[in-house]
Amino acid sequence: MKYSKKSVKDVEVKGKKVLLRCDFNVPLDKETGEITDDKRIEESLPTIEYLLSNGAAVIACSHLGRPNGEVTPGLSLAPIAEKLSKLLDKPVKMAKDVIGPDAKAMAASLQPGEIMLLENLRFEKGETKNDPQFTKQLAEMADLFVFDAFGTAHRAHASTSGIADFLPAVSGFLVAKELEVLGGALDDPKRPFVAILGGAKVSDKLGVITNLIEKADTIIIGGGMAYTFLKAEGYNVGTSLLEEDKVEYAKETMRKAKEKGVALLLPVDTEIGDRFAEDCEHKTVKASEMPDGWMGLDIGPETISLFANAIKNAGTVVWNGPMGVFEFENFAKGTIAIAQALADSDAITIIGGGDSAAAADEFGFADKITHISTGGGASLEFLEGKELPGVACLLDK
Ligand code: 3PG
Repeated sequence: MKYSKKSVKDVEVKGKKVLLRCDFNVPLDKETGEITDDKRIEESLPTIEYLLSNGAAVIACSHLGRPNGEVTPGLSLAPIAEKLSKLLDKPVKMAKDVIGPDAKAMAASLQPGEIMLLENLRFEKGETKNDPQFTKQLAEMADLFVFDAFGTAHRAHASTSGIADFLPAVSGFLVAKELEVLGGALDDPKRPFVAILGGAKVSDKLGVITNLIEKADTIIIGGGMAYTFLKAEGYNVGTSLLEEDKVEYAKETMRKAKEKGVALLLPVDTEIGDRFAEDCEHKTVKASEMPDGWMGLDIGPETISLFANAIKNAGTVVWNGPMGVFEFENFAKGTIAIAQALADSDAITIIGGGDSAAAADEFGFADKITHISTGGGASLEFLEGKELPGVACLLDK
């Protein structure tokens, strides 16, 4: 996709106060509150460094978690300021509030080349409500808005879309990169284009399947959602995850794939357990021979070969959703093998955020993947072909 929105490179930033929306919604350790993965912070650095070295004063902002408009100390952005300061090797001033006296005074005195961070945007009710009164106060601190929070691009909140009614709005480098890579895969993929979809539910992926069936050469279905497709094939699926009300949709999808000449690959064997537990009894069976009382928790070895072979011959691979319950060691093989196949492939490989991105990282394949999106929900909505509010509101080139 030709990225047609203005970026920081298309506007004068020198001497400007820039409100920079980042996605610092990073995972925190439940006990210690420590940041367990700082990828999103690292990915924000190119835009921040560009702005600071080109004479802008940066007022960074983000949400963290879902505090629902309440000041929640465990969700303060203070640890993010500390981490950011280490990564940038310069002080990051931390405001005590979002649009309160502390933030306003700090923003007013901020000098070119300096950076501050507002407190968690979602401590204010107006953020998720996209309330114009709140947005106006946010905007009054700055002269220019830069959107670099790809992970929140699917939200129509004050700091992701409403703000563009008050300030000239352009993208940062991360948003531009995400849209170029994901958009390129959808609009002009190197073929064969293989899409791998997994995760628990068909209902979460309806839009993606419907959109990708028009674009991909091969669609691979794994994870919990595969059992609804296997049911649609007429197989018994035991106690596996099953969305009865999506069986018809699965049949229709298989029919459509056939009509369009899209190869739709389903598991041919599956790893089953006698209950949903790490230490359950487990074995491999053919997908067509699942016994009653057992549940499918991962793809089997023949399926791994089938899927890996399709990935090996691909020009572009997009993967969203794990192949099994990879949190349990006995059922992680399928997800690990797919991550490995992507890592070994010469194709353009893209992981659409969320659980599959976490798996690629956890199993040590992340640096062999062409692009791992920082957006879970956002990349999913993009793959569905939806317009993202955080991008739609930016100035056109
Ligand atoms: C994410 O982690 O997916 C984004 O930061 C968006 O967070 P949200 O789902 O709470 O809006």
